[in-house]
Amino acid sequence: MTNNKKDLNNKVDKIEKRETFSTSLAAFFATLGSAVGLGNIWKFPYLVGNNGGGAFVLIYIFCVFLIGIPVMLGEFYIGRKTKKNPVGAFKELRPSGPYRALGYMDVLAAFFIIFFYSAVAGWVYSYIFKIIRGDFSGLGSLSVGDASSLVENNFNLAVAGGFAPIFWQGLVLITVSLILIAGVKKGIERITKILMPLLFGLIIIVGIRALTLPGAREGLNFLFKPDFSKVNSTALLTALGLAFFKLSVGMGTMVVYSGYFTEDNNLIDTARKVAFSDTIVSLLAGIAIFPVVFSFGMEASSGPALLFNTIPLIFSKLAFGNILLLIFFLLTAFASTTAMISLIEVPVVFISEELNLDRKLAVLISTSIIFIVGILTVHPASYFGEVRIFNMNFFDLFDYISSNIMMPLGGLAVIILTSHIINKDEFKRELSNNNSLDNGSLIDLLIFVSKYITPLLLLIVFLNSIGLI
Ligand code: PHE
Repeated sequence: MTNNKKDLNNKVDKIEKRETFSTSLAAFFATLGSAVGLGNIWKFPYLVGNNGGGAFVLIYIFCVFLIGIPVMLGEFYIGRKTKKNPVGAFKELRPSGPYRALGYMDVLAAFFIIFFYSAVAGWVYSYIFKIIRGDFSGLGSLSVGDASSLVENNFNLAVAGGFAPIFWQGLVLITVSLILIAGVKKGIERITKILMPLLFGLIIIVGIRALTLPGAREGLNFLFKPDFSKVNSTALLTALGLAFFKLSVGMGTMVVYSGYFTEDNNLIDTARKVAFSDTIVSLLAGIAIFPVVFSFGMEASSGPALLFNTIPLIFSKLAFGNILLLIFFLLTAFASTTAMISLIEVPVVFISEELNLDRKLAVLISTSIIFIVGILTVHPASYFGEVRIFNMNFFDLFDYISSNIMMPLGGLAVIILTSHIINKDEFKRELSNNNSLDNGSLIDLLIFVSKYITPLLLLIVFLNSIGLI
């Protein structure tokens, strides 16, 4: 057999051997597992806090529905149609021209996100250890001031202490690697099916408890009462970036995951359900956190430390608080783990399919790169954290470039591809599962929004953020 033929056979083998999620429900949980993560429990509340509350939430929700869902569906189309990693997928759809570069940008964006995401996940893991060790027990009997400074000290230790943060980030990477090595069905599917429903249940309990605190009304007003005087161009771009980050779109994850969807998966239904459930989880996290912030007289705009400083305080006021606190951080750890699985899956399939390497080796290569570069982000308050590039440390820089530049740009490119370049009937056929679903008018609406509204909104936010309008 000639080498070419061998190559071809290898490829065919690989595609045939490509695993899928067993059912649409499993695909939903896995996709939701990617969407729900630190973005909901950590990022959403602190960005709402920094950007003035309700008006930001409203703009965010608009971004999810008018930009996030259309981009997600564009990526679902690309992923399920080609069943390839982003580089392979764009190569197949657009064999020449600038779209070939898009796949590489996706892989790079995935790396940028994981560089800081795994650091935060490490802090979450370390909190589990601290809680078990009893670092937060007895908080309830302290005065509000003492309790707040004790939790603040603990956070400072988690982000600035020498070797510990590196250790925790390493542990996160090992955990995720083991799940990834187990594969799509036995790893990703099995884990997300158990963890997602659990997470929902717990966050509802925490939300209900927070609503009974004395500052609840003020907290809810902050979250839901729009005050547009606080919205500026930075807030607009931040809301847009958050929508991309939350829904895991604009960087290849959804291209990869939808490549594992079965042919009977109703793509529009999946996207709708994922976006809706993900938004509910973010709002519940806000409902759990802001009442506490206001009843303890903390600053809503205290930035990335918000989650780590408020949640231990809520639980300190409850019966069996330490056990609940442990469960909450365990679930945050689960959520961040399932999101990280989907992030690292992008370079893993890229390496294994494009460089033709074994999946295990691809996992090892990806996580080693992340661990090494992670050293730059893991101590945002000391060591490399003090280095400034464009006035940001590495942690903020990776976050800013991925969420506010690469993902919106990646999303814009996907939307233009699926609504302006690809044949409309082909797009319709994929989204209606070969005309077996009766969703023609929904697809027409989607095409209209994707063609005119989504790109226009993206452009306006971009031009606005660079000061052109
Ligand atoms: N959506 C995840 C979260 O909100 C983060 C993520 C971004 C995951 C991009 C995968 C891809 O935590």
